[in-house]
Order: sequence, then C-alpha cells, then structure tokens
Amino acid sequence: MKRILFSLLSLLLITSLKAQQYDTIWLSSLDISKATIGWGRPGVDVSCMGNPIILNGITYKRGFGTHAASMLCVKLSEGSARFHAVVGINDEEKATTGSAVFKLYSNTEILWQSGILRSGGPSEAVDISMAKIDTLFICTETTEDGANYDHTDWADAYFLVAGTKPVVIYRPTEAAVILTPEAPLTPRINGPKKYGARPGNDFLFRIAATGERPMKFSAKGLPAGLSLNTTSGIITGKIKKAGSYQVTLSATNKKGSDSRRLTIVCGDTIALTPPLGWNSWNCFATAIDQEKVKAAADAMVNSGLADHGWSYINIDDCWMVQAESTDSILGGEVRDAQGNMNTNKKFPDIKGLADYVHSLGLKIGIYSGPGPKTCAGFTACYQFEERDAGSFAAWGFDYLKYDWCDYERIAKDHSLPELKKPYVIMNEALKKTNRDIVYSLCQYGMGDVWEWGNEVGGNCWRTTGDITDNWSSMESIGFGQAGHEKYAGPGNWNDPDMLVVGKVGWGPQLHPTRLTPNEQYTHISLWALLAAPLLIGCDMTQLDPFTYSLLTNDEVLDINQDPLGKQASRITQIGNMEIWAKNLEDGSLAIGLFNRGLFTSPVTATWKDLGISGSYIVRDLWSQKDEGKFTGKYSATIPGHGVKLVRIYKSQ
Ligand code: GLA
Repeated sequence: MKRILFSLLSLLLITSLKAQQYDTIWLSSLDISKATIGWGRPGVDVSCMGNPIILNGITYKRGFGTHAASMLCVKLSEGSARFHAVVGINDEEKATTGSAVFKLYSNTEILWQSGILRSGGPSEAVDISMAKIDTLFICTETTEDGANYDHTDWADAYFLVAGTKPVVIYRPTEAAVILTPEAPLTPRINGPKKYGARPGNDFLFRIAATGERPMKFSAKGLPAGLSLNTTSGIITGKIKKAGSYQVTLSATNKKGSDSRRLTIVCGDTIALTPPLGWNSWNCFATAIDQEKVKAAADAMVNSGLADHGWSYINIDDCWMVQAESTDSILGGEVRDAQGNMNTNKKFPDIKGLADYVHSLGLKIGIYSGPGPKTCAGFTACYQFEERDAGSFAAWGFDYLKYDWCDYERIAKDHSLPELKKPYVIMNEALKKTNRDIVYSLCQYGMGDVWEWGNEVGGNCWRTTGDITDNWSSMESIGFGQAGHEKYAGPGNWNDPDMLVVGKVGWGPQLHPTRLTPNEQYTHISLWALLAAPLLIGCDMTQLDPFTYSLLTNDEVLDINQDPLGKQASRITQIGNMEIWAKNLEDGSLAIGLFNRGLFTSPVTATWKDLGISGSYIVRDLWSQKDEGKFTGKYSATIPGHGVKLVRIYKSQ
C-alpha cells in the first residue's frame, strides 16, 4: 500500500514538474565512463556486462549499469529539480548471491540509501529533490559477503532539470600524504624478531638495518655453524643442533649504534613470522623474465626496502616451457632426458639467478602447481613432484607457491581428500629436499583451506581468488578475512593475496594502482593487522615516494611481524565503521579504525568492546607519534575508505 501511495505521489509530482517545463536528462546520456566501478564497464543503458537492464523481471530501456563498489560524481546546475531511479541487482545475476546497498550523497551528507538489495529480490525506487545540491555522488556499496555478483543497476535514472545539464566529473582526487617519518641516519635494526630454520639446512638471514653506510654488524650468541659477514650483515651457514638461540644483533656507523634481540628457533617450523617480499605476478604476469627478477632483487636492496626487512624475491608463473607454444622463446622440450623440468629461454640460467639473489642476502621463490600445467598454461609438476621439488632445491629456491588451477581436471571432485591430496604429495617431496622452502598453498580458499592448510604442511594458504587494484576487490578480500584468525600463527598464515600498491598492471603495460591514497593506507594497515604474508606486487624499480613510504614504516611492519603471530579479529562493525584488533607479544594491542564508507566520519573504539579497562597510551603508527593517554575509549575522524592504525599500551 505504502509503495503504491509513494509511486502515485511521485507520479503526480513528476507530472507537475514536467508541466513546469523541466527537461528529462537521462543519467546514461551523461559521460558515465568517468565512474569508478568494482568490475566490468560502466553500462550505458546496459548492465556492467553489456546485457539489458532487467530488474525483477522488468526490462528498462534506459539506465546506468554498474558493479559495487561504484561511484559516479555529477555536478548539478541550479535548475536541477529531482533525481529519479529504480535500483536493484540485474537479473543476469538472479541465481547468485549478489547483494549491495545503493546510496546518494551530496558533498556533505547522505541523501538517501536503499535497503540491502539482493540478486533475484525486489528493486527499490528513489525520487528525491536536488534543490541546493551542488554535487551528487551516485554510489553502490558491497555488503558483508563482498563484491561477488553485485551487478548494480540504476534503471530508468534521470534528472529533471530547468536550465543547464548536469555534468559528470571525475571523483575528486586525494592528496597522497606521506605520513611515515624518514628513517634516521643512526642505525636502526628492523625486520623479524623471531626466525625459524631447520637443523642442517642452508641458513641465510640478512640483518635489516636502516642508517647511513658504511655500517658494521655484530651478532652475539649465534648458534654453532653460523657466521656473520660483518660488512654486509648477512648470516650464513647451517645450524647443527635444534634449539632456541637468543642472539644479540648490533649495527654501528659513524652516527651511532643499535642493538636488538633476535630469537633463532632451530626446529621443524619455518616462516615464524609472515614472509615479507615481492612477487612478479601483479606487475609483470606473463611478461616476466630473468632480467626483471634480477632487477627486482637489486631494487629491493638499492631502494632500501631490504633494510626494513623485505627479503623474498618470488617468481610467479611463466618461467617454464609452454608445451604447445610455437614461440621459440617459450616453446621447446618441457623436460630433459632424465625428466628434469626445463626453463623457457627467458630464464637461461635459473641457478645463476638464485645464486645472485642469495649473494645480496635475499631469498628467492618459485611457482608451480600440482596439475599438468600452470594457470597460464606452462609445464607444472603433475607426476613429477619429487623430481621437481629436487630441482627447486638444487637451484636454491626458498619459497614455493603451489597453484591448484589445472589440477581441476585431475581431481575427481572438491571433496576434502581430493583437495588435500596434491598438497600432501608436494609436501612429502619438499621434506625430502633438506632445504627450508616456505610452502605457499594457492587454491583460492576451496574447502576452507585455513582449516587444514597446516595439516598438509602449508606455511601459508591463499584464502581468496585473485586481488586486483580497485577498492571493491581489496576491501571485500581484506575485510572478508574476519573469522580466519584462529587458524593463523607462527608457521601458518592466511594469505589474502598480494599487495596492489605502486605500479602494477599484470604486464607488460603498468599503471599506478587505482586505489586512492586512503585506500592504500587501508590496504597496508589491514594486511599488517591480518598477519598476512606481505608480497609487494609492483615494479620495485619504479617506486614513487608515496609507495615507498607505505612499505617502509617499521612500526606498521612490526605489527605484521609481531612474534606472537596473532591475526587481528573484527571487534565491532557498525554500518561502515569497523574496529579490528591484534594482540601483540608485549601485551599491547594494535587497533585499526576503518571507515568503509565514502565520506569522512568519526569512528570510536571502546575499551568495553576491546575487553580492556583503565588508561592506555595511544600511538599513531603511520606518523609514529604518541597521541596521549585515553581512558574508556579512543575516537578518530576517518576519511572515506581510510583508516587510523594505532598501538595502545597500558599506562601505569
Ligand atoms: C592464479 C593465481 C595468481 C597467479 C596466476 C598465475 O590466478 O591465483 O596469483 O599466480 O595464477 O598464472
């Protein structure tokens, strides 16, 4: 009844407005290509996939097809009277679990918002006054279940205007404000405080320290079998006996010195803190070659990233031979006469490459999969697992990303035994190599891999599909990690995929990340809180100062690398505001105050929700400044899609 009344009233209003000689300006007649949308293309009278706009069985001739999260900014003229639309999830997703909220904002306030609209569910109509509105933000937002299938349509969308037509403008840009203070010239030792290695295996650890060079290093209490190069700070050798060793690292230069405790735990478990490194996929994808990997290793050292603890250089797909390829560089014999896997001609000397990376004190990673082929169609390990693990070890690899993909045609089904099987086989093969190889499972979270990744020997496991450099991808993956925290711990990490800051592009063409500066702060803060493996996805030879500042904040990296190895939990979620907290080894807490909405808003973390009481000193981690003593709660004003990351210490 209410609905009919509303429609009748709007009809009356619109008829009377039309009688006053307002023009109908269809939203889709404006330049909607300037919209940012979560996936697909902004659709002119079609969905984000190019299909007709159909909501709940009704086909609309006109409309704007989007995918959450999306935003279109429209500058209005004084004569703009009303905005009208019918909104919902396109029927092309009728059978799926899409859901989204539609919102209209002015520069300062929310004007209207729909309920949560779902695939196959009812649509909603909106018809509101545009009087005194300067800029209208036409937005859709994802809901709890992330961005999948959120094909959000603004059907029958038009303005009633007397005078100048509205104009679509680009989303206002945010300044990329650098918050991370520069590292001092005096030595400062960074990186993990706990490090795992297996007895009798090759050991490699580069002391990460910022400060003016030359620098002299020393290490007291090193276990027997290890030695330190005092000029480079690289520790090598083999630890003879299992045990926990308390080592004191020191670094000295002309300006001063610094010392720090490193616990080396020699036993079965490696990756006691989340791996920090780089992976080739998000920047170069199939365009990777040996020179680019070498350049990445050089850049990790020369830029100073390695001085903050970054240490793995991981080659992703496309280093092997592609059986069917007629390309003389990629094609050829996939294995030699003994069955050993060959590299393609873009990797003429893979052992030499690994040796080079090691000479810098860095570690190197490789990629393969349990199927006959990799995702990109190159040779993988199926039925050669032991031989290939032997090659990876003989070449000197320290990390293996093992990607399900083509095993899909081998597996009988997605039952747990079938999902686990190939990962168990490779784990057995890796164990025989006598090399510390971080084992990274990549099967996108199937069968709730977090529940059994540890059981099949994994050190980390991808919990999701592939990330891309936009808000809806990053936010739905990152905030979607809630609940996985109980499976994370030293040697076992949930992996929400690689970082998308800096110049990315899945090769060969690169572009600056499409995440805004605030979204990038959210990305790094959230991944740090999640104790996620941090794998830089950009071209490190083209680091700009802002990206560099995001990757070199030692207090933020310390949250990720905390030896307790806890993953943050979501403490509260009120609308778009979320509080996440991570327990740290020294009894302090890291807290992320997130604003998933589009506009600046206050966010409060209460002691009650955090389960604490009394007074706490709050330290802002990005600017590395104390904010004072707080009792009962801490509030901050957070920009849209932004974050405040703090660490709180009990005050006496
Ligand atoms: C999958 C993985 C990606 C990347 C590619 C390589 O899509 O999820 O991370 O490794 O394969 O082909």
